[in-house]
Amino acid sequence: MTRRIFVTTALPYANGAFHIGHIMEYIQADIWVRFQRMQGHEVHFVGADDAHGAPIMIAAEKAGKTPQQFVGEIAAGRKKYLDGFHIKFDNWHSTDSPENTELSQDIYKRLKAAGLVYTKPVEQYYDPLKGMFLADRYIKGECPKCGAKDQYGDACEVCSSVYAPTELKNPYSTLSGATPELRTSDHYFFKLSDPKCVAFLKEWLDAPGRLQPQVANKAREWLEGKGDQALGDWDISRDAPYFGIPIPDAPGKYFYVWLDAPIGYLASFKNYCATAGIDFEKFLADQNTEQIHFIGKDIIYFHTLFWPAMLKFAGAPYKAPNHVYVHGFIQLGGEKMSKSRGTGIDPLRYLAIGMNPEWLRYYIAAKLTGGVEDIEFNPDDFLARVNSDLIGKYVNIASRCAGFLIKRFQGQVRLTDRYSDPVLRDLEAASTEIAEFYDSREFGKALRRIMDLADEVNGYIDREKPWELAKKAENSDALLRACSIGLEAFRILTLYLKPVLPQIAITVEKLLNIEPLTWSHVRDGLSPDRLISPYAHLMTRVEEKQLDALFDMPSESKPVPPSTPHPASPAKEEKAASAAASNTIAIDDFAKVDLRIAKITNAEHVEGADKLLKLSLDVGALGARQVFAGIKSAYDPATLIGKLTVVVANLAPRKMKFGLSEGMVLAASGETPGIFLLSPDSGAQPGMKVK
Ligand code: 2FM
Ligand code: ZN
Repeated sequence: MTRRIFVTTALPYANGAFHIGHIMEYIQADIWVRFQRMQGHEVHFVGADDAHGAPIMIAAEKAGKTPQQFVGEIAAGRKKYLDGFHIKFDNWHSTDSPENTELSQDIYKRLKAAGLVYTKPVEQYYDPLKGMFLADRYIKGECPKCGAKDQYGDACEVCSSVYAPTELKNPYSTLSGATPELRTSDHYFFKLSDPKCVAFLKEWLDAPGRLQPQVANKAREWLEGKGDQALGDWDISRDAPYFGIPIPDAPGKYFYVWLDAPIGYLASFKNYCATAGIDFEKFLADQNTEQIHFIGKDIIYFHTLFWPAMLKFAGAPYKAPNHVYVHGFIQLGGEKMSKSRGTGIDPLRYLAIGMNPEWLRYYIAAKLTGGVEDIEFNPDDFLARVNSDLIGKYVNIASRCAGFLIKRFQGQVRLTDRYSDPVLRDLEAASTEIAEFYDSREFGKALRRIMDLADEVNGYIDREKPWELAKKAENSDALLRACSIGLEAFRILTLYLKPVLPQIAITVEKLLNIEPLTWSHVRDGLSPDRLISPYAHLMTRVEEKQLDALFDMPSESKPVPPSTPHPASPAKEEKAASAAASNTIAIDDFAKVDLRIAKITNAEHVEGADKLLKLSLDVGALGARQVFAGIKSAYDPATLIGKLTVVVANLAPRKMKFGLSEGMVLAASGETPGIFLLSPDSGAQPGMKVK
């Protein structure tokens, strides 16, 4: 039966560029969607920017823009990522849109009519200078337990105690510095604790196959929560000023961003339906329509409790999701790559240095399972897998066969004895199993199976030895047969890989002069005597230097010597020159310098400084340090976070115009452009001595 599926990925906040975590999620969903389409199913795949909320409003204000302008500029940058990695959404929209306003207000009114909305006064800190209520993240003060300064409103980073923002001593607003006042205002709540919501969610969570078992268990724990962990009602309103959707009949009140964000899935789909000629309501309400969300494991709570309950009790045409498919995070060297930890791999840099997007699609797919485990991006593994699987196994088959067919047989294949060797039978027989792996998002298993088949095909070519057959004219028929079977095998492998490698599939379809491959073409075979186009190079190998460049920092700058917090005075320069002339120092001289491995925990621009970045360092047992480094021309601060480097740890602290510098990081520079921060080999830990 043909399935009708509506697929989404989590909507990214419109306050930053995509990071590799977004790209991974989109690649996962895109592969799944492409696979379903190859099965002949009707799939609609949409995304949007998550535009609302206080952080975006504040970021826009800081940038001197209206929130609409601000999110508009972010949205304009999305296409190059999506096109670049062959991620093919049918529509990309925004939660700040007429469709979303209409749908959010409609759903709210229906929930209210169902008796699931009430108001209650809430006492909260208010910034009298900014004239707004403050979310916990905008309040800092002294820890009520240990007295540490500058702690956030929810937990102390020094003693780890957890508290309410009202417990902080000497609280201040991080937005204005003002002392916040406690004020009360009415908030709107969604009654998730209502017995009918709880009963519905229990049933929804228990539906076999709806959610991954780990996800359903986690959601059940929240649902059944005990004591003060009990499932609470959900505060869905925020007071003006707020960048969001106004609550009907409630002047000065807006929907909390997480209420209208998932409704943005529907808004993007509705916007798309208008141009695609689909009846939005009819499609949504249809019992055969499957609504499926791909999300990360950090937002399970919203998607498995609030969202299904909202949809269910809003009533038709709204329908709770059929599935929420959760994935883990992508990590580099064990650390989550995300906006909060630095980007790790910058997706645009990946493209800019000419790396093939299908390498990344393949590598991510090879790592993905149907589970929620994190996946690790390991550069050596990336190089090995792409080169040995894609080039060494798959592409190699085409280069081993196509050349002979073109040179000897005018590009004509002959497949009269298709099953004269088991290799094609084995390839065809694997179709169902591979399809099941794709359908259950076990992409790693699918690719392993496909590469085993590629091994078999290469084994066939090794046995047939076309290069030997080509030496004698009387073996011409055997040569034609072997190369034709090899190329037909390559066609089937291309079909199996097409969800992951859509671009290479198009090239191969052209090479073989065939229709766009769908799953039902597995058994069709290349028709006899079909003309093939001249063999083109399908894919190059990954080179180590490309990976070096990916993890290196941009070096587009002019040569600027690192301006350290201890700029050498002329006198010191002279001394250095004479030392250089004598060229040697005693080991004791060197031992005076305490060089340590440091981890860059934060990096930021310094207002008013042309050359400096402010780095926060973790120097292991020596604790945290702040250092100003003259590397601004060469590094984007976000790309430094999480990196290890080397610091001179016993340099006397120096008071600079911008603050205290407690050491010096080491960087190389020379005659040619660029400043290059030193970094240790993998395995080094913060605080280790360098000697
Ligand atoms: O966590 C996030 O990045 C959110 N912007 C995800 C929203 S998903 C959906 F609800 F819109
Ligand atoms: Zn504390």
